[in-house]
Amino acid sequence: MSDYKFIAGDKKWWRQAVVYQIYPRSFADLNGDGIGDLAGMIDRVPYLKSLSIDAVWLSPFYPSELADGGYDVADYRNVDPRIGTLEEFDKLIEELHKVNIRVFVDIVPNHSSDQHEWFQAALKAGRGSPERDRYIFHDGIGENGDIRPSELVSHFGPTGWTRVTEPDGTPGQWYLHLFAPEQPDFNWDNQEVRDDFIKTLRFWSDRGVDGFRIDVAHALTKDFSDGLPARSTMDIDPTKPDGSDPLFDRDEVHEIYRQWRKVFNEYNPPRVAVAEASAPAHRLGAYASEETLGQAFNFDLLHADWNTKRFKHLISNSMKRAEKSGSSNTWVLSNHDVVRHPTRYGLPDKTDLVKWYISEGKSAPLDAKQGIDRARASTMLILALPGSTYLYQGEELGLFEVADTPREAMQDPQWFRNPGKARSRDGCRIPLPWATNQSALGGSSFGFGPGGSHLPMPADFGKYSVAANEADTNSVLNLYRTAIGMRKGLQCAEEIKFIFNWNRSVLHFARPNGWQSFTNFGKSPVKLPKGKVLLSSQPLVGNQVPGETTVWLQA
Ligand code: GLC
Ligand code: CA
Repeated sequence: MSDYKFIAGDKKWWRQAVVYQIYPRSFADLNGDGIGDLAGMIDRVPYLKSLSIDAVWLSPFYPSELADGGYDVADYRNVDPRIGTLEEFDKLIEELHKVNIRVFVDIVPNHSSDQHEWFQAALKAGRGSPERDRYIFHDGIGENGDIRPSELVSHFGPTGWTRVTEPDGTPGQWYLHLFAPEQPDFNWDNQEVRDDFIKTLRFWSDRGVDGFRIDVAHALTKDFSDGLPARSTMDIDPTKPDGSDPLFDRDEVHEIYRQWRKVFNEYNPPRVAVAEASAPAHRLGAYASEETLGQAFNFDLLHADWNTKRFKHLISNSMKRAEKSGSSNTWVLSNHDVVRHPTRYGLPDKTDLVKWYISEGKSAPLDAKQGIDRARASTMLILALPGSTYLYQGEELGLFEVADTPREAMQDPQWFRNPGKARSRDGCRIPLPWATNQSALGGSSFGFGPGGSHLPMPADFGKYSVAANEADTNSVLNLYRTAIGMRKGLQCAEEIKFIFNWNRSVLHFARPNGWQSFTNFGKSPVKLPKGKVLLSSQPLVGNQVPGETTVWLQA
């Protein structure tokens, strides 16, 4: 088991960390079965170290039927045998800690897999049993109970209720699932459910895990005292932005997190957490307070067009929110659920990403140069801001979204449960290309492993590979390495001051130690301000900052 002496004492490390998200099945495959594994991650620890990141966050690697890419967990305290073993997990933590990289794991508390032993027990135990009380079972409507209990949609399709067959073979009760039918929602009023998650948090903390990413953190507690919810979207009821929506962002959810915080604080240093919570902006702070999870993702940048005013506005708001909750900011440009940001930035503003995806990337022209220029500039911009930056594997290679995956190869339930209506998230989950040559390791997966890959990799993927990036001094990878490394030495108090510029395309700010970030959002060059240039996302032309470029300066 891992020794984490190197972090003892540093209780604030999470406030301004660079955290790199690994999607385990698509990172590196050591045994050549086409699925990324823990042994592959151990093998690539030197690569992770070369990024100068402070932590990795592992998306679920637990036993799962993969109805939702591993977010359908069948056993919270184990490793999927296709990904590895607990011993390998311990080894991975040990190797990462040796190079000062901390580890977050993903906790999925809203729902389990339908293969979880508790759900299987609930099916067998029948109506009214304590086993069923751990989930949300209801009788159907009508004489035979064959009408679903309420008109509720789910995130992945037309209904949030699925009917079970009772132990005697007759059609029976219905259970609630906000996501796929293979993801039954837990009943968080049930004490056993609460106790079991505490056990899980301790299990991983005892193994040396430093932090937790909490999936769908806003949905755990539900209140059906006014009847079962009926709704046609999965958004918070806009008339109830105050904690009174029966499904989402209820105040009671924080009782759970306050209890978790006590567990985190039993460790030295205290374990940390970040909430994936979809709640009105003014309510996010409650997830990010010192008494609860400590940090919450700010997803504003995932939806923001490339626009000075918009960026400035959302940065100011985030700074205010963080200050109010006592937390630090979080910055996210990509993750395993959204279209990769070089693609978003390369498409015309206001492109409908679902339509674009469904037409296999043909409905709007992608300007790849613009996409990458803006991606480089925005990464440097967010790295200069106070707070933590969450990076998603592959963005450091300049990967674009893959829109032309053959339909029969798709894995994402969001896609095949909503035919013709939704985007598949597989496009950002394609395995990483490590080698320029497709058959470098003897397989066909650009060095991902010695075999194939569980999702097909585009024929031109080699040009984005780690090897190709390493061979080019101006590559995206080299920019990430330099910028993240440099940021470590520049980091200071969590404050910024905007510096006025007559040019409306410029976003310029300074940190208290004189570190400045200057972004030209426009297409035409602008004059470089005074100061010593530390790094630029594009080569400067004389004393001009080219379009769509960020420069760091020291005043
Ligand atoms: C979160 C995850 C997403 C998953 C969903 C259900 O939003 O990021 O990938 O499908 O929760 O667990
Ligand atoms: Ca493998």
